Amino acid sequence: MSEPAGAKPTRFLRDYRAPAWRIDDVELVFDLDAAATIVQARLSLRQDDAAAPLELDAEALELLELRIDGRVLGADEFSLAADRLVVPGARGPLVLESRVRIAPERNTALQGLYLSGTREQGFLLTQCEAEGFRRITPFLDRSDVLARYRVTLRADRARYPVLLANGNADGAGELGDGRHWARFVDPHPKPSYLFALVAGRLESIERTFVTAEGRRVRLVIHAEADAIGRCGWAMQCLEQAMRWDEERFGRCYDLDAFHVVATHDFTMGAMENKGLNIFNAKYLLADPASATDDDHRHVLAVVGHEYFHNWSGNRVTCRDWFQLCLKEGLTVYREQEFESDLASRTLRRIEDVRLLWRAQFSEDAGPLAHPVRPDRYSEINNFYTATVYEKGAEIVRMLGVVLGRDGFRRGLDLYFARHDGHAATIEDFLAALGDANGVDLSPWLAWYEQAGTPELRASGRHDARRRCYELTLEQHTAPTPGQPHKRALPIPVAIALFDAAGRALPLRLDGEDADTAAHERVLLLDRDAATFRFADIDEEPTPSLLRGFSAPVRLVQDTPPPALAALARHDSDGFNRWFAGDALVRRLFAQALAGSEPDAALFAAWTACVGSALDDPGVDPALAAEMLTIADATSLADGLADIDPEAVHQARARIETGLAVALASKLVRRHAALGDLDDLAVDPATQARRRLRNACLAALCRADAAHAPLARAQYARARNLTDRLAALGALLGMRDTEADAALADFAERHAGDALVLDKWFSLQATEADPRACERVAALLVHPAFRWSNPNNVYALPGAFALRNPRAFHRVDGDGYRLVADAILRLDALTPQVAARLATAFGAWRRYEPLRRALMRRELERMLGRERLSPDLADILGRSLA
Ligand code: PHE
Ligand code: ZN
Repeated sequence: MSEPAGAKPTRFLRDYRAPAWRIDDVELVFDLDAAATIVQARLSLRQDDAAAPLELDAEALELLELRIDGRVLGADEFSLAADRLVVPGARGPLVLESRVRIAPERNTALQGLYLSGTREQGFLLTQCEAEGFRRITPFLDRSDVLARYRVTLRADRARYPVLLANGNADGAGELGDGRHWARFVDPHPKPSYLFALVAGRLESIERTFVTAEGRRVRLVIHAEADAIGRCGWAMQCLEQAMRWDEERFGRCYDLDAFHVVATHDFTMGAMENKGLNIFNAKYLLADPASATDDDHRHVLAVVGHEYFHNWSGNRVTCRDWFQLCLKEGLTVYREQEFESDLASRTLRRIEDVRLLWRAQFSEDAGPLAHPVRPDRYSEINNFYTATVYEKGAEIVRMLGVVLGRDGFRRGLDLYFARHDGHAATIEDFLAALGDANGVDLSPWLAWYEQAGTPELRASGRHDARRRCYELTLEQHTAPTPGQPHKRALPIPVAIALFDAAGRALPLRLDGEDADTAAHERVLLLDRDAATFRFADIDEEPTPSLLRGFSAPVRLVQDTPPPALAALARHDSDGFNRWFAGDALVRRLFAQALAGSEPDAALFAAWTACVGSALDDPGVDPALAAEMLTIADATSLADGLADIDPEAVHQARARIETGLAVALASKLVRRHAALGDLDDLAVDPATQARRRLRNACLAALCRADAAHAPLARAQYARARNLTDRLAALGALLGMRDTEADAALADFAERHAGDALVLDKWFSLQATEADPRACERVAALLVHPAFRWSNPNNVYALPGAFALRNPRAFHRVDGDGYRLVADAILRLDALTPQVAARLATAFGAWRRYEPLRRALMRRELERMLGRERLSPDLADILGRSLA
């Protein structure tokens, strides 16, 4: 396969070679200025391969001077191409000194050194993962080159009073001319992608944390003046994360200070730079007036995530970018466990599975499908995907299930001990986990190498005469691009069997001892098919399968609806209660989509389950809220071909509205009973109740326009953003006569608050109505919308493209045109963001012929544009291949 015009050449995992040159020490001196920054670097280089010329990565740099061992090189002694600096005659060891000029304020790609905000008010910062450091100085910009850094920052004191870089502070002072300097030394060898600096006018809050090893650490969060008052929640989360990692995984922090900085201009969520994490403000700032409950939990999760990278990513890093899932899968898993321990485990699991279905299963079902560890890439920026992150975390979770909590901890301890200060691979990870437990985990490598969602078929049979229950499990994975034949994977299937009274039965497989029987156990399906025979089962049991979603598979089970309904009411695993309800929803959805009237008995059984969750005070309100919220259109369409998004919407809406109508009186009662909550509390219990109250409100407003006054009253009264936004969403969804007035009021109330206005944009962009297309077009010229700001882009055209299937797939093609135009415009500014939006077209072959043709036309139109970024060219090329 050849690359489309504009794409970078493909790199292959099998071509990996250890670096021919290494860098032990780095000294950097920055003369910082938004228009022109001078970077001086002094690199101590060693040559491991005598035959290899010295080749450094260098991009968008103006080279001013190059010296080797103190001698200035003449123009004929080196060559500088678009992305490479070559010094053919160099022999190591040597000291290479370079001086370059860069222009942060013109850097709209937001990789390397750039300006956040305006030239007058903003501040300077860096983003180096994956390949941004080469836009700062010529370097061996690859993650298996680990060096010690000493960094001096110099800048105008009034304009850039705060100067930060990785590591420990090592002096500061005045330079005269109103300029000052600060020096930092990072004692931990690190790859260049973890380098960071920040300079500007920032306020801060500070705490002291004493680690379990007795180290006193300054925790400092920095933000612009208007945002510093919203950093308290993040500070609390950070302290909890540090304590949790000590207690759960024995990991302590390792520097004298830990700095965190918030910026509004960031392409991703946040970045784990050593000792100097940089956050998208969206995942750091939170208070009840300007952030929802979900935002508060996201801050908890992302603060945890970045902090946990200090071990899973920084102390032990990745050998190359093919191993990205080594740090991301493990860290997402650690983040999930952190939130599960601190807030609601069931809720977090349901949300993760929803995300997996919506984003990862659909990625795996189209032309952009790739293994969790890809074996090739053209642009690495395009592999920060749901597959690498979410499916990567699912694999780690499965290993956790199979090894058990203590076994997993032992394995992780060995992994950190063996590879501390080094760059590792997935093979290293599996070997450490296996060695620590005396097991061979090499079969699990297949999960990392094989793309596609396995289908798991389960069928049960009770044999009354032999008093046993036979469960047959079969797996099958459909072909994906480049992988026509799939291997069988090890699939852990957590299971319980319930009797008619809802009691879990002891599980003893044929031939096992009677006294070891547990009530839940994990079966391992490690071949195409296997039958498990449970002994001493007197009556037909109800199987609860894949408990806690023990494997990222598509479960196809023959469990009859009454049994599913029983699980949705009584399963002792909260996740599986919800999962059983979801299975019922999918059967109803299939009937509605086929145009038939949904089976009345099935419908009644399902609504009764949700109703009982609503009524039962013993059920976690967060779980009840989730049971009330049916799967989104994208995951309902999972596995379908020739999708007609309008038909999917109608079928889904019918079920959703039907539920609300059937439960209306219960909803009114529960909504009223939950009326009395502390508006400003954000503890998990209050959040859960508020979640249920707002889920009731949304359902009521779907059921009947007569409930509009409830939403209007809540809008008027709301004292926190969660309630105000929920009420606004309900009014908008029912097209209430006051919806437009409420929208205007909201915009006025939160004018000047970029993060809240982004929610306002998103709410309108994701309204499941074809007219959202015109609304988005109009909002693109709103004064608060800027194309150069990734949050704005994700909130408006991004939300429309990725989270509003009904309007994006409008049959006249206007949705496609709007998004394709946006992508082309963005590509000249922030290619990484343009490429992410373009994934909305990835699944084009799965749609009905008319949409398929329209989507293809837009893909081809974009690909035909001259001077595409490598990021966008790669996505378009793979989508059409
Ligand atoms: N490494 C970051 C994280 O997941 C994500 C990121 C990637 C941020 C690339 C910026 C650029 O924690
Ligand atoms: Zn991460």
